[in-house]
Amino acid sequence: MNIHHRDISVPENWDRSGLPGWAYHSEAFLKLELEGMFRNHWQIACHVSDLPEPGNHVSLDAFGERALILRGKDGKVRAFHNICRHRGSRLVSDEKGTCRNALVCPFHGWVYNLDGTLRGAARPRSFPDLDKHEFGLVGMDTEVWMGFVFIRFHEGPQPRVHELMAPFEAEMAPYGIADMIPAGEIWEQTSPVNWKSVRDVDNEGYHVAMAHPALQDLYGPTYYDEPFVNGVCRSHATYDEREGRRWSVRHYLKLTPDAKHLPTEQRKAWIFYTLFPNTVIAMTPELTQFYQEFPLSTGETLLRGAIYKYRGEDREQAAARYLAMRIDRETMEEDVQLTVWSNESMRSPSFAGFFLSDLEYGVRTHHDHLRNLFPVLNSEEPPAEDAIAETNARLLENASA
Ligand code: FES
Ligand SMILES: [Fe+2]
Repeated sequence: MNIHHRDISVPENWDRSGLPGWAYHSEAFLKLELEGMFRNHWQIACHVSDLPEPGNHVSLDAFGERALILRGKDGKVRAFHNICRHRGSRLVSDEKGTCRNALVCPFHGWVYNLDGTLRGAARPRSFPDLDKHEFGLVGMDTEVWMGFVFIRFHEGPQPRVHELMAPFEAEMAPYGIADMIPAGEIWEQTSPVNWKSVRDVDNEGYHVAMAHPALQDLYGPTYYDEPFVNGVCRSHATYDEREGRRWSVRHYLKLTPDAKHLPTEQRKAWIFYTLFPNTVIAMTPELTQFYQEFPLSTGETLLRGAIYKYRGEDREQAAARYLAMRIDRETMEEDVQLTVWSNESMRSPSFAGFFLSDLEYGVRTHHDHLRNLFPVLNSEEPPAEDAIAETNARLLENASA
């Protein structure tokens, strides 16, 4: 199967506009996005190597929900709502930690086994008999795919992750991502923009030549984006036969070892996959990373991600990874600035909306996925805040009728 160049062409006469500006600052619409999308779509919580031993856990707050990922005594990784069955306290407050044999709630001391079942309440005689399953932690939908722990807070419309990602599995498999280990902690950073402004920038490479000198130096015109098809898009670049004018790029090109574990056409490639709505998995020959954005409010977004490296990484690989991370960090800082400028205009009465290039068709197809879930986005004029949810529900009903 040749997946190196997928021929997905841009249709003629497509609508080059973007989403209406109101969608970037409406409180009511954010509520809809949280309820109708973020809480029931797959999110990467971490990688299995972030919790290598039984009792290791990772916690994640997002979308007004709290998740707890825990490795059991049986080695299995499970995800639960981080909510005590007694009165709802957080069971763990650290982003990452370890408990020895059991989880003890910090409020009144109920104790849970590492498989989530209740071991016992504190002062049990003050309660009737408590069934250990009935009062166990509430699990959530989980799928470990290529080592990434995907969770969703509630059941949703997406297929399983392995089905969604099936078109890319052959390309991703040679990296051995499931066996990688953390190259650092899971990082988080807030940005003063709507989450969609982050995604709008990340979903196209048209800006690379102008805004990302290091990336341009590294892979320049080889970069291309494919549109979102069935909830996933892919971007691809190669750095064959380039010299590198910038220090980091020149050294990266010089040091990066021949990645013999990869098929020839992938040995000098940077490949990105974006899972609708907000998750990116990216591979270079020496590392894999994920990053994502969570809305904190209409005008604030949490950026979160982590980088993973090969378990038996040698010195050359480590040096190349360091340089790749440096190039990537620079790129991200540049992107953050672009998202701020782009987001600001969404409030300006003078801004007439996007007019997209064929090279930004990925932005449009992401928006189309959003429009399918939220047909209210087809309204150019801002609907009344208190009518947004109702209008959207009516439009969805009409569409399915
Ligand atoms: S809330 Fe957890 S023991 Fe009371
Ligand atoms: Fe960018």
